[in-house]
Amino acid sequence: MANRERTNGQTPRDGARWDYSPAPEARNIVKIKPRYGLFINGEFVEPKSGQYFTTINPANEEVLAEVAYAGPEDVDRAVRAAREAYEKIWSKLPGKERAKYLFRIARIIQERSREFAVLESLDGGKPIRESRDVDIPLASAHFFYHAGWADKLEYAFHGRRPRPLGVAGQIIPWNFPLLMAAWKIAPALACGNTVVLKPAETTPLTALLLCEVFQQAELPPGVVNIITGDGQTGAWLVQHPDLDKIAFTGSTEVGKKIQKAVAGTRKRLTLELGGKAANVIFEDAAIDQAIEGIVNGIYFNQGHVCCAGSRLLVEESIYEVVVRKLKRRIELLRVGDPLDKNTDVGAINSLMQLRKIEHLVQVGVQEGAEIHQSSCPLPERGYWFRPTFFTRVSMAHTIAREEIFGPVLAVLTFRTPEEAAEIANNTRYGLSAGVWTNKGSKYLAFASRLKAGVVWCNTYNKFDPASPFGGYKESGFGREGGIHGLSAYVASGEW
Ligand code: NAI
Ligand code: MG
Repeated sequence: MANRERTNGQTPRDGARWDYSPAPEARNIVKIKPRYGLFINGEFVEPKSGQYFTTINPANEEVLAEVAYAGPEDVDRAVRAAREAYEKIWSKLPGKERAKYLFRIARIIQERSREFAVLESLDGGKPIRESRDVDIPLASAHFFYHAGWADKLEYAFHGRRPRPLGVAGQIIPWNFPLLMAAWKIAPALACGNTVVLKPAETTPLTALLLCEVFQQAELPPGVVNIITGDGQTGAWLVQHPDLDKIAFTGSTEVGKKIQKAVAGTRKRLTLELGGKAANVIFEDAAIDQAIEGIVNGIYFNQGHVCCAGSRLLVEESIYEVVVRKLKRRIELLRVGDPLDKNTDVGAINSLMQLRKIEHLVQVGVQEGAEIHQSSCPLPERGYWFRPTFFTRVSMAHTIAREEIFGPVLAVLTFRTPEEAAEIANNTRYGLSAGVWTNKGSKYLAFASRLKAGVVWCNTYNKFDPASPFGGYKESGFGREGGIHGLSAYVASGEW
C-alpha cells in the first residue's frame, strides 16, 4: 500500500520496477569484533598456527573481521576437547538434560535473531528478507525440534537402545551458514554426540556468534567446538583419526574427496552435495503462481541453493506465455543492498563464485542458447550478477547439466509427462524437484517417477525440521531433518 501511495495510486508501467525508498536494516544492531579466535573447550582461543584470515562483505568488499586459521594442531586440540566432553559429560547426561540446553539455544537464537540476520546478510550477501524470514527462524526451529527428540529417542527407534556415535566432524558451506550449522549441530547433540564444526571461509561470522549463544546457554565446554579455516583445515579435520562421524555439505567434488579419505576407517559419513533440480510446469498449472515459485526457486538467495530449481521444464503448449511472464518478472526483481528490506536478489557470495557463474553463462552463449537478462542497475562495488535465463536449451548444453549456483535458469520444453520425467532424471544429481499442476493425481503419479530426495508440489524451497532432506546419485547420501536425520547420529545394531 505504502508503495502505491508513493506512486500516486498508479501501478508502474508494464516491465518497470517499483520505485521504493531505501529501507535499510540497522547495521549497528550487531557488534562485530575486529578479530576472532577459535572456539575450543567453551572459550575463544588464539590459534596455535598463529595465522588469521579476513572475511569480507561481498556487497561492498569491506573487510568485516579477522578470523583465526586452524592448523593441524588446532584441529587436534578441538577434537580432543570434543572427545573429553563426550566421555566425561555429554554422553552421560540423560536426554531430558540435553534437551534443556537445546531449548535454551533455540530460545536465545530467537531472542538475538535480528543480530543473526544482519550478520548473515553482511558476511554472505544474502538479502535481509531471506536471512530474517528464512535462515534464522529455521535455524532456531531446528534446535527446538531436536530438543523435543533428545529425551524420546527410544520412541524414534522402537525396540532399540539408541546410543550416540561419539565425536562428529562437520563441514559446512557458505550458502546457509547459520542454518547449516544448526542442521549439523542440533541432531548430533540431541543424540548425545559432541562436535567439531568448520564453517566456510567466506561466511564464518554467524557460527562464531553462535558460540556466544553456547556460552550464554552454559553449554558444557567442549560439547561444540568451532574451528575456522579453509578447505585444508577441512581436510585435516576429515583425516583426524579420533572422529566417529563426518557430515559434509558442499560441492560434489569435495564430497568425493572426503568419501575417499574416510574409506576403510570407522568414520560414518553423510554427504549433502550439489543439485540440478528440474522445476516442471504442466499446462494446467496456475501460471502466475508457478512464475512466483520459479523465481523463488532460482533467483532468491542468488541461486546459491543446492536444491535451486535451476532447470525449468515447460509443457510446450504454454511455453510462450511462461517465457513472456518470466521476462517481465525478472525485470521487476530488485537487485542490490542485502541490508535493504526491499531487496530481492543480493550479492554473489565471493569473487570466485562470481567468476564461475560468469564463465558458465559465457559457455551457454557460446553453445548457442539464447540469453535473457534483467536490465536492472547494479551497484558499482561488490559482486553482482543479473537475474538471467536461457531459452533454446537442450540437455546437451553445459548450462543444463552443470551446477551453476547462481541466479541463472535454463528453460527446456516437453510434450508428455514421460518426456518430462526423462529430462528431469537425466542428470548426475538428484536432490530436489518441483511440479506445478492443478491435478493432485497427476502430481502423485509424476512425483513418484522422479529420482529426487525432495519433490515440491505447487511450491518451492519449503523447509521444515521434521522433513528429511537429502539426495539421490551424486547429490549425496544420508538425510538431514526428521527421524531419518536423527538416525545418522545414533549407533546402528543396538537392538
Ligand atoms: P566447497 O565444497 O569447496 O566448500 C564447502 C566446505 O568444504 C567449505 O567449508 C570448505 O572450506 C570445505 N572444504 C573445501 N575443500 C575441502 C576438503 N578437501 N576437505 C574438507 N573440506 C573441504 O565449495 P566451494 O568451493 O565453496 O564452491 C564450489 C561449488 O560447490 C559451488 O560453485 C557450488 O556449485 C557447489 N556448492 C554446493 C553447495 C551445496 O550446498 N550443495 C554449497 C557450496 C557450494
Ligand atoms: Mg564474508
